[in-house]
Amino acid sequence: MFKKIESLLLEIENLKAESSQQVEELRIKYLGKKGIISTLFDEFKAVPADQKREVGQALNKLKNQASVTIGELKKRFDDADTDVDGLDLTLPGTYNPVGSRHPLSIIRNEIVDVFGRLGFAVAEGPEIEDDWHVFSALNFPPEHPARDMQDTFFINKDPDILLRTHTSSVQVRVMEHEPPPIRAVFPGRVFRNEAISARAHCIFHQVEGLYIDEDVSFADLRQTLLYFAKEMFGQETRIRLRPSYFPFTEPSAEMDISCTLCGGSGCGICKNTGWVEILGCGMVDPNVLDSSKIDSEKFTGFAFGMGVERIAMLKYQINDIRLFFDNDIRFLEQFKSAL
Ligand code: PHE
Repeated sequence: MFKKIESLLLEIENLKAESSQQVEELRIKYLGKKGIISTLFDEFKAVPADQKREVGQALNKLKNQASVTIGELKKRFDDADTDVDGLDLTLPGTYNPVGSRHPLSIIRNEIVDVFGRLGFAVAEGPEIEDDWHVFSALNFPPEHPARDMQDTFFINKDPDILLRTHTSSVQVRVMEHEPPPIRAVFPGRVFRNEAISARAHCIFHQVEGLYIDEDVSFADLRQTLLYFAKEMFGQETRIRLRPSYFPFTEPSAEMDISCTLCGGSGCGICKNTGWVEILGCGMVDPNVLDSSKIDSEKFTGFAFGMGVERIAMLKYQINDIRLFFDNDIRFLEQFKSAL
């Protein structure tokens, strides 16, 4: 038995393991309840009394050596191995793809942000509207062609209910509820009964602006829009106002900006004119102020409205409006923005 213990001692001193699992196997083999050392202790009972002292000491030494060696082996793997209770910290992490904002949201946020810097608040109104807010209060005569079935989606049951064709309806809602001064922009979705093509969609987005106070002039309108154009398209951008007509503004204008692609020298985007139209605007017609019970003798104001898709197409050089609504991830993930 003494010899056996001696050789086991040698064996144990030279133990090697390659994984914590192997260490555990060794522990069971030598130190387990039915392990080698335990068996030796059983056999120890039969050792003659005169040898008990010597053999007992050797056996204890063996046991200690086994726990020290195996303990050290175990520690080595514990330090290296991060497998704590089945949690392996060395595994690669799970990839959570980060989404991106829709290009129309990015542009809308940018527009709202530019006007926010000029003190314009943000308001919204309903997409399902009535004739009063979309047309009548905005000075549309009863037989105006814009009310025609070709442009407007009406609700069959009630011709007074319709999908708003422009965000100018929010002008009316705000004027009805707030006394001047009013300085706000109204972003939102609008609907027109138009055939879908590369240039037109039956659903699109606008940002409307309204400023009403004492002594608001056309010069204020022009300067506000010039600031917007430069902030949105770059400081070198120039603007041009062309006379136009809207029932709710007088005088009315359409605003062009110098072409963002060629800078004004002429290209395909601006159809060689050097200018691209981006919005409609004008001084709020006194009839509109009166409809909303704002004193048109005391107050004046300006309004403007622009298409978000149009501005996004210009800024990102997108040539088909339908791309915004296809929800093709390969298209959408190209647009990154802080806003
Ligand atoms: N509502 C007009 C449109 O949809 C744009 C506009 C808004 C024009 C405000 C003038 C003033 O075309």
